[in-house]
Amino acid sequence: MTHLIVYAHPSSDSFSNKLVNSIKSYSETLNKVVVRDLYAMGFNPVLTKKELEELKKGVLSEDVDREQAYIEEADIISFVYPLWWASFPAILKGYIDRVFSYGFAYRAGVDGIQGQLTGRGVVMHTSMGNGITKDDEENLLPNFTDTQGHQVFGFCDMEVMQHFFYPQIMTATEEEKQGYIDNTIEYYKELFISERN
Ligand SMILES: Cc1cc2nc3c(=O)[nH]c(=O)nc-3n(C[C@H](O)[C@H](O)[C@H](O)COP(=O)(O)O)c2cc1C
Repeated sequence: MTHLIVYAHPSSDSFSNKLVNSIKSYSETLNKVVVRDLYAMGFNPVLTKKELEELKKGVLSEDVDREQAYIEEADIISFVYPLWWASFPAILKGYIDRVFSYGFAYRAGVDGIQGQLTGRGVVMHTSMGNGITKDDEENLLPNFTDTQGHQVFGFCDMEVMQHFFYPQIMTATEEEKQGYIDNTIEYYKELFISERN
């Protein structure tokens, strides 16, 4: 399988960075792994008027074309990012705006809009500053999974397989953070075993 990891955090000493490295190391033992580190790449997240006009003519920017090829090749895509103002960091939002474009990720068909990325699984990882209350578990987190996951990747006919939330990361101990990572790696072990059978 090909496992694409899209990573959006500016700091190498973040929990998100440690998580990406751990997922990559484990996944590499079984899969072809590609990491797209949006900050390291200096990805331009702004969808401009010019680009929208070019898109209508079927002309793609070189960087978008490259990212779409990675998505096309992927069986599983993991997104790793911190929660910033209840959503994606702008660089990841802009990556989605530009890369998940009309004609590639979705298009209008006889029955309305149809997602084009069928068959790909999505695993989401969101670190948070806040803690998670019981009410958050029942209401807020499912809303995040809906708006950040189903409304975006589900819309493109991908399957949102799991959405991990990592609470109070700024005050969590190293032991707690390692516990989150171990739990996540266990999830991938089971996922990759079930995908192989
Ligand atoms: C611009 C900005 C906005 C943030 N917004 C939220 C938020 O809406 N909810 C939340 O729980 N934490 C919020 N945080 C805290 C981050 O989610 C937290 O710093 C991060 O998840 C820590 O993980 P890391 O070590 O991977 O950076 C915000 C942080 C920044 C810098």
